[in-house]
Amino acid sequence: MADANYVLAIDQGTTSTRAIVFDHSGQIVESGQIEHEQILPKAGWVEHDAAEIWRNTREVVGLALTRANLTHEDIAAVGITNQRETTVVWDKNTGEPVFNAIVWQDTRTQAIVEELGGSEGPEKYKAKVGLPLATYFSGPKIKWILDNVDGVRERAEAGDLLFGNTDSWLVWNMTGGTNGGRHVTDVTNASRTMLMNLDSLTWNEDIAADMGIPVSMLPEIRSSSEVYGEGRRGGMVPGVPIAGILGDQQAATFGQACFEVGMAKNTYGTGNFMLINTGTEAVPSENGLLTTVAYKIGDDAPIYALEGSIAVTGSLVQWFRDNLGIIKSAPEIEDLAKTVEDNGGAYFVPAFSGLFAPYWKADARGALVGLTRYVNKGHLARAVLEATGFQTREVDDAMRADSGVELKELKVDGGMVQNETLMQFQADILGVPVVRPKVAETTALGAAYAAGIAVGYWNGEQDVIDNWVEDKRWEPQMEEEERERIYRLWKKAVTKTFEWVD
Ligand code: G3P
Repeated sequence: MADANYVLAIDQGTTSTRAIVFDHSGQIVESGQIEHEQILPKAGWVEHDAAEIWRNTREVVGLALTRANLTHEDIAAVGITNQRETTVVWDKNTGEPVFNAIVWQDTRTQAIVEELGGSEGPEKYKAKVGLPLATYFSGPKIKWILDNVDGVRERAEAGDLLFGNTDSWLVWNMTGGTNGGRHVTDVTNASRTMLMNLDSLTWNEDIAADMGIPVSMLPEIRSSSEVYGEGRRGGMVPGVPIAGILGDQQAATFGQACFEVGMAKNTYGTGNFMLINTGTEAVPSENGLLTTVAYKIGDDAPIYALEGSIAVTGSLVQWFRDNLGIIKSAPEIEDLAKTVEDNGGAYFVPAFSGLFAPYWKADARGALVGLTRYVNKGHLARAVLEATGFQTREVDDAMRADSGVELKELKVDGGMVQNETLMQFQADILGVPVVRPKVAETTALGAAYAAGIAVGYWNGEQDVIDNWVEDKRWEPQMEEEERERIYRLWKKAVTKTFEWVD
């Protein structure tokens, strides 16, 4: 492929699917993006139509290539990055999903999770898989499908069904589907299922048995950067190597060049996910963080991370727009927030999917506290933005306690980093500078790098470091005393959300 001068990344996210063409300097050439439906059958349930996601994937790849005036022959490799944990189960003979994909935010598995924990509680599998038992992860979602969809358990036991997060679903379809599709995933996605041993990077058959999941359903676990297969003949990228897979938060960590122990990034999407590189050591958390695989390049040793996952950040802005109608578009929240000096005493804890890090409380529900007659919609807009900053501070506290590493600066990316008011508040409440790179699409970029490195398009991590360019930096401006005062109030507000569900 002498003329293949570009790499294509597919970013299959929670709200949309995107395809982005990158050039050798890591710059965006063109992209395509389509949103998919959020199916909300009842409170706490969130589903996606996996067939719709696959259709959208084909369409956005076509869009990106057409807009860039390129064909598949110009593409050296394809990298995939994806919303993690979201669970697809499909029939390998027909290619049809047996149920809607159950999304990572979905809390329907709460009873399953409690039952699995039994007298040992949420920490039962943590030493093996790095995760507390929680509704967030894939394993209990697979169990729910097997337990609740008619006839599905028998089909799974007969070896007809396959499980995957959306990375596996796309790769299987892209490489041939019912006609020889590869059923694979990478170590980062596998580390979010609750089914993978963190040390050996193999499936834990005992945990799978506890959950009643036949191991035959599970994809083969591969590194994050290697050739898994080629685009099928007649498909959208025929003959092009599919050569990188990284869960979206790990992809952003890679794209942000967080290659040294202690380097951290925070991605501001529907939720927020902060990862700190802990090197070849999987550090157990005592403070509500997850131990996860950051990446594994080919045969190199795996690199681990501690992660602080926050379920609701950007999606609170969407809720403010769609459910309250106070703003018409998400960016308007910044103008509204700027009409006031501070939050006027209001604190908004968006525990819509329970609370993730560092609390892991499935029975928490959102709270808006500190209201007086003085509070107006500008203050509420500020409280919405500040919720993201405060939750990030809580994760940072946990990271410091677990890793002993003091953050020197925080690299940020994702949609909300265009919001300067939020970025300034983030620097203020953390007390360290916040730094945004020129290419803020670091998730897709990380997947592109993983794929490009596998086929020799890029040489390795040094290319990623060389291409990373700072765009803007926010220095902390808030007085220490004020910072700690408002943080104390935030912590108090959080306690109001606990044990809300009967
Ligand atoms: O763990 C969930 C995360 O991977 C979803 O990320 O950006 O699609 O909301 P995002």
